[in-house]
Amino acid sequence: MRTDTGQVFKLEDYRPSDYLIPATSLDFRLSPDATHVTALLTIERREGVAATAPLVLEGDGLTLLGVAIDGHALAAGDYEATPDRLMILKPPAQRFELRLETEIAPSRNEALMGLYRSNNVYCTQCEAEGFRRITYFLDRPDILSVYTVRVEAPHNEAPLLLSNGNPVERGALANGRHYAVWHDPFPKPSYLFALVAGALGKVAGSFTTMSGREVELGIYVEPGKERLAGYAMDALKRSMKWDEDAFGREYDLDVFNIVAVSDFNMGAMENKGLNVFNDKYVLADEETATDADFANIEAIIAHEYFHNWTGNRITCRDWFQLCLKEGLTVYRDHEFSADQRSRAVKRIAEVRTLRAHQFPEDQGPLAHPVRPRRYREINNFYTATVYEKGSEVVRMICTILGPEAFRAGMDLYFERHDGEAATIEDFLKVFEDVSGRDLAQFALWYHQAGTPNLTVSSAHNAAAREFTLEIEQSVPPTPSESRKRLMHIPLAFGLVGADGKPVTWTAVEGATVDDGIIHIRRRRHTVRFSGVSERPSVSLNRGFSAPITLSVQQKADDQFFLAAHDSDAFSRWQAFNTLLTDALIAAFRQILGGKQAVFAARLAELAGRIAGDEALEPAYRALALTLPGEADIARDIGKGIDPDAIFAAREALARTIAEANRDAFSALYDSLADKGPFSPDAASAGRRALRNTVLDYLSLLPGGASLAARHFNAASNMTDRAAALAVLALRHSGTAEAEEALAAFEARYRGDALVLDKWFQIQAGVPGERTVDKVRVLMRHPAFSIANPNRVRSLIGTFASANQTGFHRADGEGYRLFAETVLEVEKRNPQVAARLATALRSWRSLEPGRQAKAKQALLEMAQVENLSADLRDIVERTLA
Ligand code: BES
Ligand code: ZN
Repeated sequence: MRTDTGQVFKLEDYRPSDYLIPATSLDFRLSPDATHVTALLTIERREGVAATAPLVLEGDGLTLLGVAIDGHALAAGDYEATPDRLMILKPPAQRFELRLETEIAPSRNEALMGLYRSNNVYCTQCEAEGFRRITYFLDRPDILSVYTVRVEAPHNEAPLLLSNGNPVERGALANGRHYAVWHDPFPKPSYLFALVAGALGKVAGSFTTMSGREVELGIYVEPGKERLAGYAMDALKRSMKWDEDAFGREYDLDVFNIVAVSDFNMGAMENKGLNVFNDKYVLADEETATDADFANIEAIIAHEYFHNWTGNRITCRDWFQLCLKEGLTVYRDHEFSADQRSRAVKRIAEVRTLRAHQFPEDQGPLAHPVRPRRYREINNFYTATVYEKGSEVVRMICTILGPEAFRAGMDLYFERHDGEAATIEDFLKVFEDVSGRDLAQFALWYHQAGTPNLTVSSAHNAAAREFTLEIEQSVPPTPSESRKRLMHIPLAFGLVGADGKPVTWTAVEGATVDDGIIHIRRRRHTVRFSGVSERPSVSLNRGFSAPITLSVQQKADDQFFLAAHDSDAFSRWQAFNTLLTDALIAAFRQILGGKQAVFAARLAELAGRIAGDEALEPAYRALALTLPGEADIARDIGKGIDPDAIFAAREALARTIAEANRDAFSALYDSLADKGPFSPDAASAGRRALRNTVLDYLSLLPGGASLAARHFNAASNMTDRAAALAVLALRHSGTAEAEEALAAFEARYRGDALVLDKWFQIQAGVPGERTVDKVRVLMRHPAFSIANPNRVRSLIGTFASANQTGFHRADGEGYRLFAETVLEVEKRNPQVAARLATALRSWRSLEPGRQAKAKQALLEMAQVENLSADLRDIVERTLA
């Protein structure tokens, strides 16, 4: 484990390395406890660098067995080696071959970075800085090298030997051993290196590219699970086709392989030609996977595949540019899913995720720009801001330029930077060049942290037939950026008449308004629309055109009107969601008094109308009927959070909606019952989502537990079964129905770790103060393992980030369990521990009692000696 050195990496300190590594040849002799790695590196001194410049290579916990240059072993005085660094003091020539021998122990690698073992399969994870745990190297993304990899192992232990690129040779050796050689012709950074070896089952496929080349596809899974990889294979083919159609991007190797492993720190990894996946994002059938799982698999298969162009062919100059590949690739996978499914539904789901994860990050102690300027531990910057806000920034470029110029810009990006390690400046420049626009002010979206707010008020002057919008922008201060500059915000909008139709105007002044977008660039804009005779309702930030918060002075009647009649589906959802949030906040603050009931009744009536509106897709109705989560409400309240009061307010509103719509919801529930065989397609999933959402409401009424139990017992797929189990466990905790269903689920899926994760998750989410103890008990369950990231995230991650009343138990017991567990996880896996620890990032918004106890837990972690760089960085920034 790398402990904290206190070193801070700064963007402004970037400089090219003195040496390059145009070619890398690796030879692995695999063995669980002593894998022998021989690296043959072609080293070149960069032009203009002094001949005396030492060559300094990074390592991480390495044992060096030998070092030679051009065939001659180095003498002790020629180099300095520590586990973390190798320095060649006087490289002999402008170009030479450096031969390094290192020994590593994959079986003891529990950090799951570098070469490790998962279920007896050898696999690697090198992003961001894992390659240096394999051999000494210039382990930075601007060092592009052509790799040739030879892997050797006993045939019975590892019949399958994979690496990046194309297979070139394989053969048998003495003593039951064998080998394979792979060559990747595309120069790549070390973080994209991969190796997999073991006994795995294969699902084969093929894809013919737009230029007619045949690509062999392989998905490798635990033997016996092949039939669970069919959906992933289908998603892969659809991704390959989509990237050709939408972006003109063709695949470039003869083979494309995906391997599913069960111990993985993240979701999946885009290694060139050899993607490695957390098996949770590959394996699926109706018996074991929910519709949400299917949608995730489709999106993540696409995401990693799309990296082949956005990340691999064009990579990042340094890790500050991470959003160059991640934000852009998230944008691409969002567009893919929107095209495969329903665009409006997808957009609503994206916005919910952005608000739930990125907004609190941007508004708390861990806030950072989409392109950060400094970091202590890069692993901690794979954040919602870099990914999700990074994607929104790309979407805004498309909104501002229009789809054609955007596509032209992307084409230019691929043409101009193919084979390079690029920067955000390079990316912005292509769009400036194709459009002739100046994106300097827009670039602040990359450079400045914080969620901008727009305050908007409107006035209509009937006599003058003029409608005015007063818009003011502000960006709240964030850590280390107290003063903010004014941003360019593309605000999509519509003026809606009493008939629900768009209201037109004859002239507009006060801001550039084109194609339904107001371009906000100054602190204040007074936007005057002339020729408007009736007072319109204003629909703002349509499609969530900018990742901002809005404070709109608008009458509730206008919101109700938009929630029912806005022609833009997203905005209709947004208006309804805003009303629900307003009602919940008012209930929390107890500010509406007698008007509370009237407001809730109006919402319940509208909820009923939305539920039964056959013109709306079921998936859309399901999303609209899902109340804002407790954490969403907490975020919008901002400070003095008492999770118990929020929970009570939310329960009460849910009950009001259920009671007001009892009969209609019952009828809808019955009418949506599954007919015909299972299909994971979006429309079928939407019907299940709506039925399960309605079930959640109906379960609050008398007889609710037995209805949910019937639903559970009748379920013929995991979506319905898990939904019913959640309703029973969360709404009817402790009842016989809940206990029986939990026991039945456990018995049915004993031995299927991925499915039992759902069982852990559901129980970790049960509201109330008793869950802390339940989590402690579950940590001793035979299926739980503190060493497996999926188990830890399901049980501890869910408890800490999706159980507001349980985790924030007033006596601090939730925080104590949390801190203990984070430290326990950290001993093996600092990266997973640090991610887990971010669950406390909003501690300052809690009411004083809980705040003090949360701080205590953070301080206890901070006081531990030899904390990993990963965890220390998060804990200290959270406390700062
Ligand atoms: N490159 C990342 C995986 C990664 C992240 C490796 C951090 C090392 C450190 C990959 O492309 C990715 O972004 N994966 C996401 C899923 C994706 C759909 C957003 C993940 O793993 O969560
Ligand atoms: Zn990615």
